[in-house]
Amino acid sequence: MVVNPDIRSQRKAEHLEAVRTLGDAKDRSWFGDISLLPNCAPETDWNDVSLATDLCGVPLSSPIIINAMTGGTDEAEDINRRLAQAARRHGLAMAVGSETAALRDTAWAHTYTVVREENPDGVVIANVGMNSEPDLARRAVSLIGAQLLQVHWNVAQELFMAEGDRDFRGALDRLAETAGTAGVPVIAKEVGQGVAGPEAVKFVEAGVSAIDVGGRGGTNFIAVEAWRRNHLLSEQWQQWGLPTPVTLCEVLSAVGGQVDVVASGGIRDGHDIAKALALGASAVGIAGPFLRLVSQPDGDAALDAYIEELHWTLRSLLVMTGSRNWDELQRRPVVLGGRVRAWLSARGLDDFAVRLGTRA
Ligand SMILES: Cc1cc2nc3c(=O)[nH]c(=O)nc-3n(C[C@H](O)[C@H](O)[C@H](O)COP(=O)(O)O)c2cc1C
Repeated sequence: MVVNPDIRSQRKAEHLEAVRTLGDAKDRSWFGDISLLPNCAPETDWNDVSLATDLCGVPLSSPIIINAMTGGTDEAEDINRRLAQAARRHGLAMAVGSETAALRDTAWAHTYTVVREENPDGVVIANVGMNSEPDLARRAVSLIGAQLLQVHWNVAQELFMAEGDRDFRGALDRLAETAGTAGVPVIAKEVGQGVAGPEAVKFVEAGVSAIDVGGRGGTNFIAVEAWRRNHLLSEQWQQWGLPTPVTLCEVLSAVGGQVDVVASGGIRDGHDIAKALALGASAVGIAGPFLRLVSQPDGDAALDAYIEELHWTLRSLLVMTGSRNWDELQRRPVVLGGRVRAWLSARGLDDFAVRLGTRA
């Protein structure tokens, strides 16, 4: 569907307002079903701990990605500038919001390129939608000098948008062509519904280098689109989608070891991050909290405090599990219980849970 550029800019402004107003999804407890195994005799020095990781061969000094949000309005430029400055201060990778607006109307390009200008040596990630042609994807990468490209999959959001897409045929073929021609590693990224095992296999067959699971538990784009239309959401719609720990297990058990996996959707504190990496993710994406913090009057200081707290918790949890780095944490047992364990049993994925719980 061809969308009028003015409508697109207005939509982006409304998304910012909706996410600030609505906050997170209600049901945020699923990470509580995952436990790390403490090590009371770690023989580890806090100063020897490294948070460094690697995503599709790109080295990251922190596993935290400021995930795709915005661009295409004046306010978006200010947000992108300040998030990019925080990314540079703390060594975080950062994705921009969907670049379709800037590529169709170059007047908005500076609202995205500001991210590269503010962080010339940082890891910057381009973003296009699943219906984008491969040529547009290539231009999205080159506009911001990105090292990686996200292709986002957001069927639920499109259907809840009055002006959204309705025809989703051919997207996997376009993804395969994009993966072959983008010139940088491609990440297939969900936005709130989560990726199930069978679709993870299709993404891998299409040639992606990573999957961002985009599970339920944080920013809920069904709720965001309903808010834009003054529509009251039923409980069932609020519960739609795979909770992030569940989609992580689905994807890791289906294609873990073949491609990198990013955990996103309601990742909020250092415990969520450590658990996601212990399960096998290479990195995590956080979006909504960064938007709400940067929107505060003391936004830059609030961003610094939040990121420092995340990094402090991660280092501490690594020490408290006797790990100096993520590889060592990934050799330590992780116990899955409650609804996550029940889900895996119902899906015939008990082996995955047992392997995690008994690894030495
Ligand atoms: C205001 C806003 C705009 C977003 N726009 C995009 C987008 O353009 N492309 C995309 O792939 N994801 C977009 N997202 C989704 C985020 O990248 C992320 O997947 C989602 O918000 C879940 O993470 P969270 O719970 O930490 O917010 C947006 C999120 C927010 C909060």
